Amino acid sequence: MLDKTITEGINAAILAAGEIIMNADRNTETVEEKTGHANFVTSYDKAVQEMLKKRLLEILPEAVFVGEEEDVHREIQKGYSFIVDPIDGTTNFIRDMHCSTVSIGLLLDAEPVYAAIYNPYLSELFTAQKGQGAFLNGQPIHVSGKPLSESIILFGTSPYYPELAKKSFELLINLFNRALDVRRFGSAAYDLCMVAAGRAELFFEMQLSPWDYAAGSLIVKEAGGQATQLDGTPLSYGHPLSVLARGGQDEKI
Ligand code: IPD
Ligand code: CA
Ligand code: CA
Repeated sequence: MLDKTITEGINAAILAAGEIIMNADRNTETVEEKTGHANFVTSYDKAVQEMLKKRLLEILPEAVFVGEEEDVHREIQKGYSFIVDPIDGTTNFIRDMHCSTVSIGLLLDAEPVYAAIYNPYLSELFTAQKGQGAFLNGQPIHVSGKPLSESIILFGTSPYYPELAKKSFELLINLFNRALDVRRFGSAAYDLCMVAAGRAELFFEMQLSPWDYAAGSLIVKEAGGQATQLDGTPLSYGHPLSVLARGGQDEKI
């Protein structure tokens, strides 16, 4: 079990990150394009990350910090690492769609041990500690266990990898034909929380980075679901991978 000063410190930091997002001043915001299709970074992604880096390293000074907007991504190693997405759903944020999250994963020896994902627009704080269950604003959450025929399917388009679109949409059509319906929220971290909370049953994306899924994968598992690569192999947290999260019945997809 992690010390309460660590888990409560992470929760306080993520709520402060949400404040920055909610108070964003659109008149002074700057938007830059990064490499890859439809890949943006705003002054707020950078400001949130800077604040989180400072606060999280005050909580665990020995930890490695990996943040999406770092110029150089440090490798996770033995011991503690933070993997942080300061704004997951940057395009939604730029377009003011009110569906973005902050995601913090704490890893010990390269495996997630604590996760916090915050949706500041709905004041929803999802947390999980390894072996201790998953929670939404302190209340336990669980996957739904519904059959595929009653499932809501969530997916991400892997927008920065257009070469994966065909494969991705083929799988989507296949699942759509057997399930209830599909949704695309634009924040992979939030998609994973949706599966964990039993609001949706399946999420997939052909390529995600560790900051998109490190925290969410632990929340799904602690809520009783599965989070793996698309072919069922376990996730790792050092480089981009496909992600499949399931909270419905264990049917072949
Ligand atoms: C993106 C979001 C989106 C997913 C992309 C991610 P970002 O993260 O999670 O839902 O489809 O693959 O890169 O760039 O907004 O932090
Ligand atoms: Ca992201
Ligand atoms: Ca991001």
